[in-house]
Amino acid sequence: MMNSSEIRKQFIDYFLEKDHKFVRSSSVVPTDDPTLLFTNAGMNQFKDIFLDKKKPTYSRAVNSQKCIRVSGKHNDLEEVGVDNFHHTFFEMLGNWSFGDYYKEESIKWAWELFTKVWKIDVNRLWVSVYKDDDEAYNFWTKIPNLDNDRILRFGNKENFWEMGETGPCGPCSEIHYFIGKDISSQNPNGVNLSDEYRELWNLVFIQYNRESDGSLTDLPMKHVDTGMGLERITSVLNKQYSHYETDIFKPIIDKIVDVSGKDTSYKNCVPHKVIADHLRMLSFSIADGAVPSNDGRGYVLRRVLRRAVRYGDLLGIKDNFMHLLIDDLIDIMGKPYPEIFDKKNHIIETLKREEDSFRKTLDKGLIKFEEMVKDSKNKQVFSGDDSFR
Ligand code: SER
Repeated sequence: MMNSSEIRKQFIDYFLEKDHKFVRSSSVVPTDDPTLLFTNAGMNQFKDIFLDKKKPTYSRAVNSQKCIRVSGKHNDLEEVGVDNFHHTFFEMLGNWSFGDYYKEESIKWAWELFTKVWKIDVNRLWVSVYKDDDEAYNFWTKIPNLDNDRILRFGNKENFWEMGETGPCGPCSEIHYFIGKDISSQNPNGVNLSDEYRELWNLVFIQYNRESDGSLTDLPMKHVDTGMGLERITSVLNKQYSHYETDIFKPIIDKIVDVSGKDTSYKNCVPHKVIADHLRMLSFSIADGAVPSNDGRGYVLRRVLRRAVRYGDLLGIKDNFMHLLIDDLIDIMGKPYPEIFDKKNHIIETLKREEDSFRKTLDKGLIKFEEMVKDSKNKQVFSGDDSFR
């Protein structure tokens, strides 16, 4: 077993040895990018370098970035809890080249880290490239222990990565891992289709800018932006194919069981999973300065909090509870991300206040609803006005 902190460290150390500079995660609340409500990828903080608006003092970087995907182009909200590996908040491990190395090195190093350092079974790995990216395809064919029939080509949806409607982008190459029991049942058609094939690492070859009129222009230099979900790699390296079984989530899930008195078999554990996921999204965005409110980013927070409370309700939790989970989150994440510890009281106060006001609104709303139902029974009709309200 290797816990997530060790895995994060091994990733960073691997690239430090290859002359990368460690760069801290940026805030999940982007301060100077009106195209984003939340930081959705490790590359966001390097956008101006890619666009040649800023000169970096280093040409290689490594980091672990806090990411939120619950609005805009990348939105995983509906998958959360229904499956075991999508999140509104996750950590993205990444290595970066700013006009330095390109496809060959990023492919070679990704494979080396996976198969030599982490000893991932090559018989479970699949690789994808953008449909016309022969260069990347050819570098993969040079990897000695990778069969050519495990290198697949896909189109824009799967293998062309973009951060949003506009911005730096490019073709990408991904490494997928088969989690199924029967290794002989693998089939190339399952990649990018079946949940048994988990996309682990995305190597993006940034070479274009998507302009606001939809066109692509060449960037002055070519760059590398890679991203690997820490939750996914932790799950695969420990063969715990639900992320919620890993050290990243388990203590929070256990606390939810304690608080609710409902074990993880209850409703297939969906409520526990949703609450644990949403807790992370909310705590990190509040720590980074976001506030629940009635519009924009704040409204996303409000909706996520309300969603968590509704799932709490399904577990029979009637009192404010989200703040009770904070200590477990800090135990897991407080070391790499001390902001979560520093802002603990603020997070607790914000969650309590918001949960309180939602419960009041809900109580009032339910009373009103009962009155409407009664009224509609008398009149034999539930009016459009009432439905709207
Ligand atoms: N930007 C790419 C992604 O988010 C790789 O880091 O998947």
